[in-house]
Amino acid sequence: MPEVLNRIKIAKSFGLASQSYDISSRLQRYTGKNLMSLLPNRSDLTVVDLGSGTGFFTDILASKFQQTIGVDISAKMLSFAQENRSKEICWLEADAYYLPFKANTIDVIYSNLVIQWCDPLDVIIEEILRVLKPGGLFIFSTLLDGTLHELKSSWAQVDDEQHVIDFKTQADLKAIFDKASCKLLEQKSQDLVLEYQNVIHLARELKGLGANHVPKQKGKGLAGKDKWQKMTNSYQNFQEPSGIYPATYKVYSAILVKLNA
Ligand SMILES: C[S@@+](CC[C@H](N)C(=O)[O-])C[C@H]1O[C@@H](n2cnc3c(N)ncnc32)[C@H](O)[C@@H]1O
Repeated sequence: MPEVLNRIKIAKSFGLASQSYDISSRLQRYTGKNLMSLLPNRSDLTVVDLGSGTGFFTDILASKFQQTIGVDISAKMLSFAQENRSKEICWLEADAYYLPFKANTIDVIYSNLVIQWCDPLDVIIEEILRVLKPGGLFIFSTLLDGTLHELKSSWAQVDDEQHVIDFKTQADLKAIFDKASCKLLEQKSQDLVLEYQNVIHLARELKGLGANHVPKQKGKGLAGKDKWQKMTNSYQNFQEPSGIYPATYKVYSAILVKLNA
Protein backbone atom coordinates (compact mmCIF):
# COMPACT_ATOMS: atom_id res chain seq x y z
CA MET A 1 0.00 0.00 0.00
CA PRO A 2 2.71 2.62 0.75
CA GLU A 3 3.89 2.16 -2.84
CA VAL A 4 0.39 2.95 -4.17
CA LEU A 5 0.15 6.05 -1.93
CA ASN A 6 3.51 7.20 -3.20
CA ARG A 7 2.34 6.85 -6.76
CA ILE A 8 -0.73 8.98 -5.96
CA LYS A 9 1.61 11.65 -4.56
CA ILE A 10 3.90 11.41 -7.58
CA ALA A 11 0.84 11.84 -9.85
CA LYS A 12 -0.26 14.89 -7.82
CA SER A 13 3.18 16.45 -7.98
CA PHE A 14 3.43 16.02 -11.76
CA GLY A 15 -0.17 17.18 -12.17
CA LEU A 16 0.59 20.46 -10.40
CA ALA A 17 3.43 20.98 -12.88
CA SER A 18 1.43 20.35 -16.07
CA GLN A 19 1.48 24.05 -17.09
CA SER A 20 5.15 24.70 -16.22
CA TYR A 21 6.62 21.37 -17.36
CA ASP A 22 7.40 22.24 -20.98
CA ILE A 23 9.50 25.31 -20.16
CA SER A 24 11.41 23.44 -17.42
CA SER A 25 12.16 20.26 -19.34
CA ARG A 26 15.51 20.94 -21.05
CA LEU A 27 16.96 17.63 -19.78
CA GLN A 28 13.86 15.64 -20.80
CA ARG A 29 13.87 17.23 -24.27
CA TYR A 30 17.49 16.26 -24.81
CA THR A 31 17.15 12.64 -23.63
CA GLY A 32 13.78 12.11 -25.32
CA LYS A 33 15.16 13.31 -28.65
CA ASN A 34 18.14 10.94 -28.38
CA LEU A 35 15.76 8.09 -27.56
CA MET A 36 13.83 8.81 -30.77
CA SER A 37 16.89 7.76 -32.77
CA LEU A 38 16.55 4.22 -31.33
CA LEU A 39 13.02 3.71 -32.72
CA PRO A 40 12.46 1.10 -35.45
CA ASN A 41 12.38 2.41 -38.97
CA ARG A 42 8.89 1.26 -39.99
CA SER A 43 5.50 2.84 -39.47
CA ASP A 44 3.02 -0.05 -39.22
CA LEU A 45 3.39 -0.33 -35.44
CA THR A 46 1.38 0.27 -32.28
CA VAL A 47 3.49 2.40 -29.95
CA VAL A 48 2.85 3.37 -26.33
CA ASP A 49 4.45 6.43 -24.77
CA LEU A 50 4.65 5.34 -21.15
CA GLY A 51 4.60 8.31 -18.75
CA SER A 52 3.74 10.62 -21.63
CA GLY A 53 3.63 13.83 -19.52
CA THR A 54 2.61 16.85 -21.61
CA GLY A 55 2.76 14.68 -24.74
CA PHE A 56 5.61 16.46 -26.51
CA PHE A 57 7.20 13.18 -27.61
CA THR A 58 3.84 11.38 -28.01
CA ASP A 59 3.06 13.92 -30.72
CA ILE A 60 6.29 13.08 -32.57
CA LEU A 61 5.59 9.34 -32.19
CA ALA A 62 2.12 9.87 -33.66
CA SER A 63 3.66 11.45 -36.77
CA LYS A 64 5.79 8.32 -37.30
CA PHE A 65 3.59 5.36 -36.34
CA GLN A 66 0.22 3.90 -37.30
CA GLN A 67 -1.19 3.97 -33.76
CA THR A 68 0.14 5.93 -30.78
CA ILE A 69 -1.17 5.74 -27.23
CA GLY A 70 -0.08 8.09 -24.44
CA VAL A 71 -0.30 6.61 -20.94
CA ASP A 72 0.20 8.65 -17.77
CA ILE A 73 -0.79 8.36 -14.13
CA SER A 74 -1.55 12.09 -13.91
CA ALA A 75 -4.98 13.21 -15.17
CA LYS A 76 -3.78 16.84 -15.36
CA MET A 77 -0.79 15.93 -17.53
CA LEU A 78 -3.15 14.00 -19.80
CA SER A 79 -5.64 16.84 -20.15
CA PHE A 80 -2.81 19.24 -21.04
CA ALA A 81 -1.59 16.73 -23.64
CA GLN A 82 -5.10 16.16 -25.02
CA GLU A 83 -5.63 19.91 -25.53
CA ASN A 84 -2.24 20.59 -27.09
CA ARG A 85 -1.28 17.55 -29.17
CA SER A 86 -2.48 15.67 -32.23
CA LYS A 87 -6.13 14.60 -32.12
CA GLU A 88 -5.09 11.21 -33.54
CA ILE A 89 -3.51 10.16 -30.24
CA CYS A 90 -5.38 7.97 -27.78
CA TRP A 91 -4.72 9.08 -24.17
CA LEU A 92 -5.15 6.72 -21.22
CA GLU A 93 -4.95 7.50 -17.53
CA ALA A 94 -3.23 4.46 -16.02
CA ASP A 95 -0.55 3.37 -13.63
CA ALA A 96 2.39 1.69 -15.35
CA TYR A 97 1.99 -1.17 -12.84
CA TYR A 98 -1.42 -2.03 -14.34
CA LEU A 99 -1.25 -1.32 -18.04
CA PRO A 100 -4.70 -1.33 -19.69
CA PHE A 101 -3.65 -3.60 -22.56
CA LYS A 102 -4.06 -7.28 -23.33
CA ALA A 103 -0.97 -9.50 -23.28
CA ASN A 104 1.19 -9.58 -26.44
CA THR A 105 -0.49 -6.63 -28.18
CA ILE A 106 2.02 -3.73 -28.26
CA ASP A 107 4.96 -3.42 -30.68
CA VAL A 108 6.99 -0.71 -28.94
CA ILE A 109 6.92 0.99 -25.56
CA TYR A 110 8.82 4.29 -25.52
CA SER A 111 9.43 5.85 -22.12
CA ASN A 112 11.53 8.94 -21.46
CA LEU A 113 12.69 9.62 -17.89
CA VAL A 114 9.80 7.88 -16.15
CA ILE A 115 10.90 4.59 -14.59
CA GLN A 116 13.16 6.25 -12.02
CA TRP A 117 9.81 7.10 -10.37
CA CYS A 118 8.75 3.44 -10.33
CA ASP A 119 9.56 1.28 -7.34
CA PRO A 120 9.67 -1.74 -7.32
CA LEU A 121 11.13 -1.65 -10.81
CA ASP A 122 11.18 -5.41 -11.49
CA VAL A 123 7.35 -5.49 -11.27
CA ILE A 124 6.99 -2.79 -13.88
CA ILE A 125 9.43 -4.50 -16.23
CA GLU A 126 7.31 -7.68 -15.96
CA GLU A 127 4.18 -5.65 -16.75
CA ILE A 128 5.81 -4.03 -19.77
CA LEU A 129 6.95 -7.44 -21.03
CA ARG A 130 3.44 -8.84 -20.50
CA VAL A 131 1.87 -6.36 -22.93
CA LEU A 132 4.67 -6.33 -25.52
CA LYS A 133 4.44 -8.76 -28.43
CA PRO A 134 7.26 -11.32 -28.54
CA GLY A 135 10.05 -9.44 -30.31
CA GLY A 136 8.52 -6.13 -29.13
CA LEU A 137 10.80 -3.37 -27.88
CA PHE A 138 11.02 -1.35 -24.68
CA ILE A 139 13.00 1.79 -25.52
CA PHE A 140 13.61 3.93 -22.48
CA SER A 141 15.76 6.36 -20.56
CA THR A 142 16.15 6.70 -16.81
CA LEU A 143 18.50 8.27 -14.27
CA LEU A 144 21.21 6.41 -12.39
CA ASP A 145 22.67 6.68 -8.92
CA GLY A 146 24.88 9.78 -8.71
CA THR A 147 22.19 11.96 -10.28
CA LEU A 148 21.91 15.26 -8.35
CA HIS A 149 24.84 14.19 -6.14
CA GLU A 150 25.69 17.86 -5.52
CA LEU A 151 22.22 18.49 -4.05
CA LYS A 152 22.22 15.21 -2.14
CA SER A 153 25.58 15.81 -0.48
CA SER A 154 24.75 19.46 0.28
CA TRP A 155 21.60 18.35 2.12
CA ALA A 156 23.59 15.63 3.90
CA GLN A 157 25.55 18.43 5.61
CA VAL A 158 22.28 19.72 7.09
CA ASP A 159 20.10 16.79 8.22
CA ASP A 160 19.53 13.07 7.71
CA GLU A 161 16.22 13.48 5.85
CA GLN A 162 15.97 12.21 2.28
CA HIS A 163 15.84 15.17 -0.13
CA VAL A 164 16.70 13.41 -3.39
CA ILE A 165 15.02 10.19 -4.58
CA ASP A 166 16.98 6.92 -4.70
CA PHE A 167 18.27 6.11 -8.16
CA LYS A 168 19.30 2.60 -9.25
CA THR A 169 22.84 1.70 -10.29
CA GLN A 170 23.53 0.19 -13.71
CA ALA A 171 24.27 -3.11 -11.90
CA ASP A 172 20.81 -2.98 -10.24
CA LEU A 173 19.23 -2.57 -13.69
CA LYS A 174 21.27 -5.41 -15.15
CA ALA A 175 20.20 -7.74 -12.32
CA ILE A 176 16.52 -6.90 -13.01
CA PHE A 177 16.85 -7.38 -16.79
CA ASP A 178 18.77 -10.65 -16.33
CA LYS A 179 15.86 -12.13 -14.37
CA ALA A 180 13.19 -11.06 -16.87
CA SER A 181 12.31 -12.71 -20.17
CA CYS A 182 14.03 -10.06 -22.25
CA LYS A 183 17.38 -9.32 -23.83
CA LEU A 184 19.34 -6.08 -23.59
CA LEU A 185 19.98 -5.03 -27.19
CA GLU A 186 21.69 -1.73 -26.62
CA GLN A 187 22.59 0.52 -23.70
CA LYS A 188 24.32 3.83 -23.11
CA SER A 189 25.09 5.88 -20.04
CA GLN A 190 26.11 9.48 -20.11
CA ASP A 191 26.76 12.21 -17.55
CA LEU A 192 24.98 15.45 -18.35
CA VAL A 193 25.86 18.48 -16.25
CA LEU A 194 23.28 21.26 -16.37
CA GLU A 195 24.14 24.79 -15.31
CA TYR A 196 22.14 26.88 -12.86
CA GLN A 197 22.49 30.53 -11.81
CA ASN A 198 21.96 29.55 -8.16
CA VAL A 199 20.43 26.78 -6.06
CA ILE A 200 16.99 28.43 -6.17
CA HIS A 201 17.14 28.12 -9.97
CA LEU A 202 17.71 24.36 -9.60
CA ALA A 203 14.93 23.98 -7.00
CA ARG A 204 12.50 25.96 -9.22
CA GLU A 205 13.32 23.78 -12.21
CA LEU A 206 12.66 20.57 -10.23
CA LYS A 207 9.36 22.03 -8.98
CA GLY A 208 8.45 23.24 -12.47
CA LEU A 209 8.89 19.67 -13.69
CA GLY A 210 6.90 18.19 -10.81
CA ALA A 211 9.99 16.18 -9.93
CA ASN A 212 10.01 17.34 -6.32
CA HIS A 213 8.19 14.52 -4.52
CA VAL A 214 10.52 12.41 -2.38
CA PRO A 215 8.74 9.19 -1.32
CA LYS A 216 10.91 8.40 1.70
CA GLN A 217 10.85 11.90 3.18
CA LYS A 218 9.69 11.76 6.80
CA GLY A 219 8.54 15.39 7.15
CA LYS A 220 6.54 17.51 4.72
CA GLY A 221 9.58 18.36 2.67
CA LEU A 222 9.44 22.03 3.57
CA ALA A 223 12.84 22.78 5.03
CA GLY A 224 13.05 25.84 7.29
CA LYS A 225 14.92 28.95 6.20
CA ASP A 226 17.98 28.07 8.30
CA LYS A 227 18.29 24.59 6.84
CA TRP A 228 17.85 25.90 3.30
CA GLN A 229 20.55 28.53 3.94
CA LYS A 230 22.96 25.87 5.28
CA MET A 231 22.31 23.65 2.29
CA THR A 232 22.91 26.46 -0.22
CA ASN A 233 26.12 27.45 1.61
CA SER A 234 27.28 23.87 1.28
CA TYR A 235 26.32 23.77 -2.44
CA GLN A 236 28.75 26.67 -2.96
CA ASN A 237 31.58 24.10 -2.77
CA PHE A 238 30.46 23.00 -6.23
CA GLN A 239 30.23 26.51 -7.69
CA GLU A 240 32.45 26.83 -10.75
CA PRO A 241 34.91 29.71 -11.32
CA SER A 242 32.46 31.13 -13.89
CA GLY A 243 29.90 31.47 -11.05
CA ILE A 244 27.51 28.80 -12.31
CA TYR A 245 26.15 25.99 -10.14
CA PRO A 246 26.31 22.53 -11.74
CA ALA A 247 23.88 19.64 -11.26
CA THR A 248 24.79 16.21 -12.61
CA TYR A 249 22.27 13.88 -14.27
CA LYS A 250 23.47 10.35 -15.00
CA VAL A 251 21.33 9.37 -17.96
CA TYR A 252 20.94 5.72 -18.93
CA SER A 253 19.14 4.71 -22.10
CA ALA A 254 18.55 1.24 -23.46
CA ILE A 255 16.55 -1.07 -25.70
CA LEU A 256 15.12 -4.31 -24.32
CA VAL A 257 13.55 -6.90 -26.59
CA LYS A 258 10.90 -9.30 -25.32
CA LEU A 259 11.96 -12.89 -25.89
CA ASN A 260 9.59 -15.46 -27.33
CA ALA A 261 7.82 -17.30 -24.51
C1 LIG B 1 9.66 13.43 -15.97
S1 LIG B 1 8.04 13.21 -16.60
C2 LIG B 1 8.42 12.68 -18.26
C3 LIG B 1 7.32 13.02 -19.24
C4 LIG B 1 7.62 12.70 -20.69
N1 LIG B 1 7.97 11.31 -20.86
C5 LIG B 1 8.70 13.60 -21.26
O1 LIG B 1 9.69 13.09 -21.74
O2 LIG B 1 8.53 14.83 -21.22
C6 LIG B 1 7.48 11.73 -15.85
C7 LIG B 1 6.03 11.39 -16.18
O3 LIG B 1 5.80 10.03 -15.74
C8 LIG B 1 4.52 9.96 -15.15
N2 LIG B 1 4.52 8.81 -14.20
C9 LIG B 1 5.21 8.68 -13.05
N3 LIG B 1 4.94 7.49 -12.47
C10 LIG B 1 4.07 6.85 -13.29
C11 LIG B 1 3.40 5.58 -13.23
N4 LIG B 1 3.57 4.74 -12.21
N5 LIG B 1 2.57 5.25 -14.24
C12 LIG B 1 2.35 6.09 -15.29
N6 LIG B 1 2.95 7.31 -15.38
C13 LIG B 1 3.80 7.69 -14.41
C14 LIG B 1 4.35 11.32 -14.46
O4 LIG B 1 3.00 11.63 -14.20
C15 LIG B 1 5.01 12.26 -15.48
O5 LIG B 1 4.08 12.76 -16.41
